[in-house]
Amino acid sequence: MELRIPDHIAIIMDGNGRWARKRGMPRIMGHYRGAEVAEEIAKACADLGVRYLTLFAFSTENWKRPREEVDLLFNLLRDYLKSKREDLKKLGIRIRFIGRRDRIGGDLRSLMEDLERYTSDNSRLTVILAVDYGGRDDIVRAVRRVIDSGARSIDEETFSSFLDLGGVPDPDLLIRTAGEKRISNFILWNLAYTELYFTDLCWPEFSKDELIRAIEDFSRRKRKFGRVLDE
Ligand code: FPP
Repeated sequence: MELRIPDHIAIIMDGNGRWARKRGMPRIMGHYRGAEVAEEIAKACADLGVRYLTLFAFSTENWKRPREEVDLLFNLLRDYLKSKREDLKKLGIRIRFIGRRDRIGGDLRSLMEDLERYTSDNSRLTVILAVDYGGRDDIVRAVRRVIDSGARSIDEETFSSFLDLGGVPDPDLLIRTAGEKRISNFILWNLAYTELYFTDLCWPEFSKDELIRAIEDFSRRKRKFGRVLDE
């Protein structure tokens, strides 16, 4: 079948812990494997012609996990940001971050900002990592920015531009792994008309083939955006 390639894919990478526990391994092993899969999927998206890939890496609620797991997740992210600089350049992948920055340690924050700058000319694919991100928090921060801007009137388009994903087209397809069928406070505003795809596979089991399966499913959807489609 002919694939209709989404411009923007968003993914809730769920089930790392379950995948590891099923194999008698510590949860963090699931996150290690999960990071490798994230890399594989980013490369696949670049090859397929997807323009934006948004990955939910750490939510505003994930701070409630055991301190040890939180530290390990941030160390994993730190190692990735440090070691993948040149690969990203070669692949033409731009990195952006969404989410709060105020609760992230200064050293990691500088790494994030440095990588955003370093990859800002790359134009094949933009990978947007949601770190300390919550959809409601994003909307509240946007409202604060609107107030600070002194704007006296606001419409949907202007409001969108104040959100973390300002300037990025809304996701066409949201994928969530591990059988859960929830949005879990991800990019709430931007998902208004997004097609949803759920799979029972845990994130460490996801692959390029599974991505293509999701895109095939997406290609069969009729997107109406509230309109009536001509028969
Ligand atoms: C969900 O699995 C996964 C996360 C909360 C973290 C996702 C992070 C990664 C895949 C690593 C990201 C790193 C880079 C460099 C992109 P879970 O722990 O909620 O699994 P469970 O529901 O089975 O417990």
